[in-house]
Amino acid sequence: MTVAERMLDFSGRIAIVTGASSGLGAAAARELAGSGARVAVVGRRKERLDDLVAEIGGLAVPCDLSDPGRVGAVVPAVSEGLGPPEILVNAAGGMFTEARAEDEPTAAISDTLALNLMAPFLLAQGVFPHMRSVGRGAIVNVSSISGRVGIPGIPQASYAASKAGLSGLTAELAVQWARHSIRVNTVAPGFFRSEITGPLYEGERGSSYLQRNTPLPIEGTPEDVVGAILWLCGDAGRYVTGQTIVVDGGWTAR
Ligand SMILES: NC(=O)c1ccc[n+]([C@@H]2O[C@H](COP(=O)([O-])OP(=O)(O)OC[C@H]3O[C@@H](n4cnc5c(N)ncnc54)[C@H](OP(=O)(O)O)[C@@H]3O)[C@@H](O)[C@H]2O)c1
Repeated sequence: MTVAERMLDFSGRIAIVTGASSGLGAAAARELAGSGARVAVVGRRKERLDDLVAEIGGLAVPCDLSDPGRVGAVVPAVSEGLGPPEILVNAAGGMFTEARAEDEPTAAISDTLALNLMAPFLLAQGVFPHMRSVGRGAIVNVSSISGRVGIPGIPQASYAASKAGLSGLTAELAVQWARHSIRVNTVAPGFFRSEITGPLYEGERGSSYLQRNTPLPIEGTPEDVVGAILWLCGDAGRYVTGQTIVVDGGWTAR
């Protein structure tokens, strides 16, 4: 095994990936499984999760993560079904409103924070005792460039707040849990094509907006973001904790 292979080898490790029924989460689950991990995949769409498990093995754990009362069932299901999780990738996320900030309904703000910020926190609390007893762990949250900069023309105030909150949570958990060798990081992607962003890419106006604002002359893909997730989950990232790593084709560098 080369040094590079060893650094990204997940043999024998148990991972939880949320948002694995599509997009980035599905890509991360596939790559972790392809590098040896046994992966518990989480999302609402059970058939999608079952199909993925048929392809990569592991365990399907259907759950609506926007309901804080249900999130606590995820980690026990994984530890019973696969064993103690050493890796948690919080990729599930979404928006509940497209309204401008002044008009965002309270329920949408609350649902956004529940799914994008509270669920990753609750899942981190859930995996903590397992990671502490194993003596190591890696948690990777998925935020967004909108947690760092405003995105003109696409109103997303509660989404931006939830994603920025992940960076604060990340730094705090990293400092509290470092003594247990549990690393906590966040990946902040720029735009890539997925179910969430599909409509933006379809229209001429949306795709030229994205091209104009992305210095690299390529379109981002889930796989471009998975590289950073794998690095942070694996031994390649063993000295990295508390960070928010931006993967955005240069959007925020301008
Ligand atoms: N695409 C982009 O340009 C972009 C940019 C920056 C950040 N991100 C972030 O990247 C992450 C992945 O998004 P994506 O672009 O890959 O979009 P996607 O394909 O729509 O994936 C979103 C995932 O989240 C899951 N999810 C949504 N609501 C959920 C709920 N209530 N409970 C459980 N799971 C739920 C969905 O599964 P179910 O529908 O089966 O529940 C799906 O698997 C998100 O956190 C997103 O905010 C995306």
